[in-house]
Amino acid sequence: MPTSSKAVASSPIYRGPLPHITTVERLPVTVYDQPGDASRAVAREIADLVTQRAAAGKQTVLGLATGSTPVGVYDELIRLHREEGVTFKTVVTFNLDEYWPMPTDALQSYHRFMREHLFDHLDIPAESIHIPDGTLAREKIPAACAAYEEKIREAGGIDLQILGIGRTGHIGFNEPGSTVESRTRLITLDSVTRSDAASDFFGEWNVPTQAITMGMGTILGARKILLIALGEHKSKVIKEMTEGPMTPRVPASWLQEHADATVLVDAAAGKDLTASVTPWALGNIEWTDMLIKRAVIWLCEKTNKAFLKLDDQDFRDHNLHQLLRHHGPAQKIANRVFQWMMQTIEYHPAGTEAKRVICFSPHPDDDVISMGGTLIRLVEDGHETHIAYMTSGNIAVFDHDAARVADFATEYNRMFGIENERSRAVLAAVLESLRNKQPGQSDIEETLKIKGLIRWSEAKFGAFKAGCKEEHLHFLDLPFYRTGTIAKKPISDDDVQIIYDLIKKVDPHQIYVAGDLSDPHGTHRVCAQAIFRAVKRIEAEGGKVPDTLLYRGAWQEYELHDIEIAVPLSPGDLARKRKAIFMHESQKDEALFPGSDPREFWQRAEDRNKGTADRYNRVGLPEYYAMEAFVRWNGVPI
Ligand code: F6R
Repeated sequence: MPTSSKAVASSPIYRGPLPHITTVERLPVTVYDQPGDASRAVAREIADLVTQRAAAGKQTVLGLATGSTPVGVYDELIRLHREEGVTFKTVVTFNLDEYWPMPTDALQSYHRFMREHLFDHLDIPAESIHIPDGTLAREKIPAACAAYEEKIREAGGIDLQILGIGRTGHIGFNEPGSTVESRTRLITLDSVTRSDAASDFFGEWNVPTQAITMGMGTILGARKILLIALGEHKSKVIKEMTEGPMTPRVPASWLQEHADATVLVDAAAGKDLTASVTPWALGNIEWTDMLIKRAVIWLCEKTNKAFLKLDDQDFRDHNLHQLLRHHGPAQKIANRVFQWMMQTIEYHPAGTEAKRVICFSPHPDDDVISMGGTLIRLVEDGHETHIAYMTSGNIAVFDHDAARVADFATEYNRMFGIENERSRAVLAAVLESLRNKQPGQSDIEETLKIKGLIRWSEAKFGAFKAGCKEEHLHFLDLPFYRTGTIAKKPISDDDVQIIYDLIKKVDPHQIYVAGDLSDPHGTHRVCAQAIFRAVKRIEAEGGKVPDTLLYRGAWQEYELHDIEIAVPLSPGDLARKRKAIFMHESQKDEALFPGSDPREFWQRAEDRNKGTADRYNRVGLPEYYAMEAFVRWNGVPI
C-alpha cells in the first residue's frame, strides 16, 4: 500500500512509517514501501483505463517505456491478462525510443525488449504497435520521426504515458539541454546514460552514441503521465525533478508544468525527498524513537557538533523546537541518542561462544568487499564461518581473461600429456568463439563455464585470506542467474530450495544477507528475496530462524541512523580485507561493470569503512579506524 504522497513507510531500511506531513514537492509524488507495490499500482491504472475506454467503445493510446523500471508493470499487465482476463485488443502503443543504429533482433533492441517483456504475452494487435526504427539510414530519420509524430496525432494523441527516468534527468532519451518544444528526433546520448547502459551491452564501448526519441513536447502532449522510479540510484534525480526548479538541466522537471503528471517511487528512490530527510521541517509530526535519532544525527551534521555538545539553541536554530518541547532539554535528548548509538558498536557480531554463521554473497566478491573485516572477526572469534556464493558472476569476466585461461588449460594439458579429444574440442571452441565474438554478443555455454570457474577460484582464495575453510564454501550457482545475459530469469522455487537446503544442512545461528534496495542489475535484491523466502518457509515449518543481518553491497553504506550493528576494524583488519579483495583479479584494475564510480572495489570498500568510522567519530562516538555496518532484517520479505 502506498503511504501517501507525503510519507515514506517502513522497509528493510526505513523503520516505522514517517508521519503524514505537508509537502514541498512541486508534483504529486507517491512513495511505496516496495517497488512491486508501485508497479502493481501503475498496471492497475493502465488496465482500468483500457477497460473503461473499451466499454465506452474507445481505443486507448499508451506511451510505453523500456529499461529496468517498467518490467514489473509489464509483468503485472501480463498477469492481469492471463488471470483476470483483461484484454488489450483496443490498445494502440507508441514507444518512447530506440537506440540508433540498432537491428530489431539485437539483444539490446527495444523492439526485442518490448516483444519479450510485453507484446508476446498480450493481445495487442501487431498493427497497433509503434516503436522508433533503429535500422533506418541516417538520412531517412527526420522523415520517419515526422511520420511517428503524425501517427500519434492520427491516433488521437497519447492517453497515458509511462515514463522511467535516467540519472541525468532524461525522460525518453531527452538528455539535459532538450527543449520543451522538442519533438521526435535523433539525439546524442549523455555519457552517464551510456555508462548506465554499459552492462546491457557488455561494456560501455559497445553502447551506441545516439538514439531516436520522442521529444519533450511529444511526451508533454500526453493527457496523463505516470513516471516511475525505483531504487536508491534514482533518489537524487527524483529530488531534483520534484523539488527543484524547472530547468533544461533536468528535463523531467518540465513535468511540473503538466496538468496531470504523477511520480511513483519506492522508498529507496524517495529517500532524498524533504519528506523523508527532514519531515519535521514540513509540519507537526509525532516524535518516534527513530525520528528522534534521525533528527539528532542530522543536527550534529548541520552544526558540526558531537551529540553531547548540542545545546537547546542548536535545536531552536534548526527547526527542532517541537522535539525540544516534547523531549528536551537538549542534553537529555542527545544523551538518549548517544546511548542508542553506543549500543550499535559490536566487536563480536556473533558473540563469543562458538556458533555457525553463513554469509550469503550474491556475486563472488560481495562477501569480502562488503564484510571482509567481519568475516575475519567471525573466524577469529571461533565461529564456523560459511560463505554461500549465490551466482557465478560469469557475465562480469572479460573475454580476454577467459581466453587466457582457455589458452593456459590448452598448454597445461599439452605439457602434462593429458589432452583428450573432448578437452581439445571444448578449449578450441571457446578460443574460436571468443576470437569471432561480435560486440554485445553473448557467450557460448563453455565460455560461460570458464568465466564462472575463474570467479569461483577467486572467491575461494579471497575467503581463504579471511581465514575461511574450503569445506565451508558453497558455490550455489542459482538457476535464475544462468542466462548468460544481463536480463535474469525471475526467482523460482528451485532457487529457494537450494538456499533452504543449505540453511537446513548448516543450521546457522546467524546469517548475513546483502540487503541492497538497489544494485545496478538487481541481482542483490533478487538474492535477498530468495533467502527471505527460504527463511519464511523454515519459520512456517516451525524451524529455527537464524538471526538475519543485512549488509550493503559495493555501492552504498547505510545511513548512520539506520545502522544497528557496527563492527570496528583495526588497520590490520583492513589490510587483510584488502588482500582478500585483491584475490578477485578478474575485477581488479578495470572491472567490466564498474558502475559510475571510478574507484576500484577495494578502494570503495576502504573509503566506505573508514568513512563510517569517521561519521561515528564526528558525532562524538569512539574513534575507530574503520567499521562495517549492518542492520537487522525486520522480517518483511522484499
Ligand atoms: C526507456 C527510456 C529511458 C528510461 C530511463 C531509465 O524507454 O526512455 O528514459 O526510462 O533511462 O532507465 P531504467 O528504467 O533502466 O533505470
